[in-house]
Amino acid sequence: MPGAFRKHADAIYNMKVRPDDIWVITFPRSGTTWTQELIWLVENNLNYNAARERPLYERFPMLETTSQIPEIAYEFIKANFMNLGSFQGLTEAARYPSWKMIEEMPSPRFIKTHLPLSLLPPTLLETAKVVYVARDPRDVVVSYYYLHKMVSKHLMRATFHDFWEAFRRDLLPWTPIVAHTNEAWVHRYHPNMHFVFYEDMIKDLPKEIRRVCKFLQRYYTDDQVKALSEHLSFESLRKNKNVNNTTGEENNGVQFVRKGEAGGWKSHFDEVMTSQAEDFLISRLKGLDLVYPSLENGETTHL
Ligand code: A3P
Repeated sequence: MPGAFRKHADAIYNMKVRPDDIWVITFPRSGTTWTQELIWLVENNLNYNAARERPLYERFPMLETTSQIPEIAYEFIKANFMNLGSFQGLTEAARYPSWKMIEEMPSPRFIKTHLPLSLLPPTLLETAKVVYVARDPRDVVVSYYYLHKMVSKHLMRATFHDFWEAFRRDLLPWTPIVAHTNEAWVHRYHPNMHFVFYEDMIKDLPKEIRRVCKFLQRYYTDDQVKALSEHLSFESLRKNKNVNNTTGEENNGVQFVRKGEAGGWKSHFDEVMTSQAEDFLISRLKGLDLVYPSLENGETTHL
């Protein structure tokens, strides 16, 4: 994590969780935004008009945003010398700690975080509802690379190859990814935990919407589920400015809602990287019963 996390880690760990909170926990680029919009609508009587009135990052804010702003840039952003626009509430989070803002929010709260369960309040799972979204790490790293390109604009010099090296050595924020996912996976049968794979959402969105509704004990008709899955389709969310919260014109041609595929990693990995990824997955999954749907069909032969 960036050094600034040290300043906020204790406050986050000791935060008071509320029974009517809903938390979405993910490793970055795993389908967080998609799931947040789904949950927010399911919990707000499918009020599309209300969803259109405010950006998702305000309706469903991220816990640790402040801790992600490098300390060197913090004062600049705070003083408004550096304009990050409205991207994911960064400007607001530089002015006031994101976790404090969430502490002061009225109930019911919707909270997004990329922190693994071990860095979150230990009472979380016994108190509030938690949805964890997981995705094939190879697709995550590709998507994460483009996110860095988008946010850092011309400052990003790393090639995808360099980025992959940093990812597989756990040098990027919120890594290591498999351990992150496994921390939630081991609680997948807990009544307050709903575990989802991005790949399953791609395969059958209405089915996954129904599973989330069941978990949240909200009941909608087939037509309502159909309308919601249309609202949540890739094309629709890409056009939705309250959800596809990109930094503006100068974003290296990359959008936050970017490609929306499962298996797209194949066009970014050469033979060596493919084999490194296989080794990475084998070693990280060793001794765990975590199974990614994309690995179930024998695509990674030794698993
Ligand atoms: P890609 O970059 O592979 O396209 P997060 O919200 O956790 O940052 O995840 C972002 C990823 O989810 C991006 O992946 C984005 O395109 C994808 N995504 C967002 N909305 C989606 C949708 N409606 N359908 C499919 N993928 C979606």
